[in-house]
Amino acid sequence: MSAVRTVPTTRAYADPDSKSAQLWARAQQVLPGGNSRTTVYMAPRPIYAADGAGCWVTDVDGDRRLDLLNNYTSLIHGHAHPAITEAATRRLARGASFPMPTPEEIDLASVIVDRVASVEQVRFTNSGTEAVMMTIKAARGFTGRSRIAKFEGAYHGSYDWAEVSLGSSADQWGPLDAPASLPYAKGTPPSVLDEVVVLPFNRTELAVARIEKEAKTLAAVIVDPVPNRAGLIPARADFLRALREVTAAHGILLVFDEVISFRVGYRGAQGVFGIRPDLTSFGKIIGGGFPVGAVGGRAEVMSVFDPRGGKPLVPHGGTFNANPVTMAAGLVAMQLMDERAFARFDEMGAKLRSGVEACFERAGVPGAITGMGSLFRLHAAPRAFVDYRSTVVSDEERARFDRLYRELLDHGVLLSPTGLGCLSTAVGESEAEYFLEVLNASLASVAGSA
Ligand SMILES: Cc1ncc(COP(=O)(O)O)c(C=O)c1O
Repeated sequence: MSAVRTVPTTRAYADPDSKSAQLWARAQQVLPGGNSRTTVYMAPRPIYAADGAGCWVTDVDGDRRLDLLNNYTSLIHGHAHPAITEAATRRLARGASFPMPTPEEIDLASVIVDRVASVEQVRFTNSGTEAVMMTIKAARGFTGRSRIAKFEGAYHGSYDWAEVSLGSSADQWGPLDAPASLPYAKGTPPSVLDEVVVLPFNRTELAVARIEKEAKTLAAVIVDPVPNRAGLIPARADFLRALREVTAAHGILLVFDEVISFRVGYRGAQGVFGIRPDLTSFGKIIGGGFPVGAVGGRAEVMSVFDPRGGKPLVPHGGTFNANPVTMAAGLVAMQLMDERAFARFDEMGAKLRSGVEACFERAGVPGAITGMGSLFRLHAAPRAFVDYRSTVVSDEERARFDRLYRELLDHGVLLSPTGLGCLSTAVGESEAEYFLEVLNASLASVAGSA
């Protein structure tokens, strides 16, 4: 598809009589705050999607945007890829779900096992949240310990334990060597907070010291090697190696949350960093655009789910687990991602990140970009990004970034409001150039209104 060469205006949604406005009025009657997914709420109201094709999305008012968010990194081939659509519809026509396993789950599990050295067996769920939940439950069942450690600012879905200290603010977060365990959702039981040890990301000595201090009670240390909500700052390899060593020394399971980071390499982020965790949670890209999650790991640990001897140590039901439509779509999506496709992402991602840096510099607007492979995140200020705390913005920085986000949205580019973006295989050179053109124009407008 050839790129649009002029920066378009995509603001039809803002009209008080727009179709988005009408849908929003209806939505608020039947959904709390008109919303089913906190992430996609947008003030004063969201823009409703109508169609997607490749890397372009058209909203219900007819405006078309370059989609660099890909349903929060899950659509690795963009929208409605013909081979994935064909596989899903062919499977759907033969039935969507059964009270029996189907052959498709074995095929997708085999792809993951073949690619990821640490994964000998796989178990499917319907979301990344459930996958993380099941890694934590598996770790508890396997070790007989109940507490976990996680990193400040890291998002792992909405399981209570995984949510702790997700959005810590400076007035509450406590010392860097012992970050406070803070609730994210109102009503989180205090006992949950006691069961989660919070660690500083990428701070090797501090994290290791805290793990050693709490070691006897810890079932697992869970780490996202490229944590989006903590700034999309890739973990340092020596930091991950230290986590591997300290957890192994104390009989603690090391869990990689690769729900997002599995898209940074053919063997996931763990392949890029050369680390073997005990368990991994997967999601997003492995479902070909359909709801999915998976837990994978060493057979010895995964045996907690084994029902052959009666009730497993960790029972795990799920009406739609491994549903064949997701499995069929996911299989094709993963097969299309061979090592060459990941190498292309690495090259394009690096080029795009340096292009974005040049745009910020040219415009004289403070800003930066982090990321890895096909993933990137724009930031409101240039800083030495190390951990979650170094990415937290001031009110002024937030306001400036909001203006930039809105300019992009209103001129044909879709990113997340926090600046998260990613490539899909549908993005070509001309679309990448189009993004940089729109970014240049948007930054000029932000600079002009400063
Ligand atoms: C690292 C990570 N873990 C877990 C999740 C939860 O996945 P899901 O939204 O499929 O429940 C997400 C979602 O964005 C994520 O980014």
